[in-house]
Amino acid sequence: MRDFSRNDIDLVLKKAEELEPFARGKKSRELEGKILAMLFYEPSTRTRLSFETAMKRLGGDTIDMVSAEASSVAKGENLADTVRVIEGYADAILLRHSKEGAARMAADFSAIPVINAGDGAGHHPTQTLLDLYTIKRESRLKDLSIALVGDLKYGRTVHSLAYALTLYGANIWLVSPEQLRMPESIKNDLSHAGVSLKETPSLVKAIDQVDVLYMTRIQKERFPDPSEYQKVAGTYRITLELLRNVRENLIIMHPLPRVDEIAPDVDSTKYAKYFKQSFYGIPVRMAILSLVMA
Ligand code: NCD
Repeated sequence: MRDFSRNDIDLVLKKAEELEPFARGKKSRELEGKILAMLFYEPSTRTRLSFETAMKRLGGDTIDMVSAEASSVAKGENLADTVRVIEGYADAILLRHSKEGAARMAADFSAIPVINAGDGAGHHPTQTLLDLYTIKRESRLKDLSIALVGDLKYGRTVHSLAYALTLYGANIWLVSPEQLRMPESIKNDLSHAGVSLKETPSLVKAIDQVDVLYMTRIQKERFPDPSEYQKVAGTYRITLELLRNVRENLIIMHPLPRVDEIAPDVDSTKYAKYFKQSFYGIPVRMAILSLVMA
């Protein structure tokens, strides 16, 4: 995410807006003849399927490494070799990997563009771009107050989002249990970039102070010790009761999947935007693909 300037982001958001009719089904042949290779070394539903839809809506095609277990990765092939092979098969690579920095390393080896679809507990920049698009469409990016809630230590979506928000001068509340605080190095970068940061374990303190409530799942799979997960599981849960004194225009976002961070009866309130947010993944990822490959 740190590779993006404010202008770069605004360009993607503008392009996404232009592509929205095509995201809803209008025909496009912009990426006809182009192939996106999808390399997923970690589970994914939305990112994989929305990129696939985005590519197909633009008239392009995808090839898919079904799973690391079913591919030569299981035979011991390293990522650098895989990437050098795939660059002969496709026009861009979409990579999700369990190691932080994997996408950057792959990009160093690859002659074709590499899109980071999540690198361990590191970053998830395409999620951030669709998050910003959602905020722009459903709330406002200017003078934004936002609470990032949940697993700020291992959550890659909030790492990327926090960096991007510095470019828009947001007020950021960091709401997490003590054990899952935003890493110091990121907090330092955010402070240096001049954003106003408030940190608290109390969701109640932040909830009526913000325009956007950005909920996250506690990243169970990243805990070295399962008993540590048990201590923080279920820390935050948005319920109708909690929403009684919030700002009139509050929106609730979540990159999904949710576990129990948002009670199901919140889904039908005007605040809930997480399913719309996941739809916005289509035009935003179409914009990314088109800027990278067209
Ligand atoms: C997120 C991820 O993979 O980091 N999911 C997604 O891409 N929408 C969030 C998560 O897994 O909790």
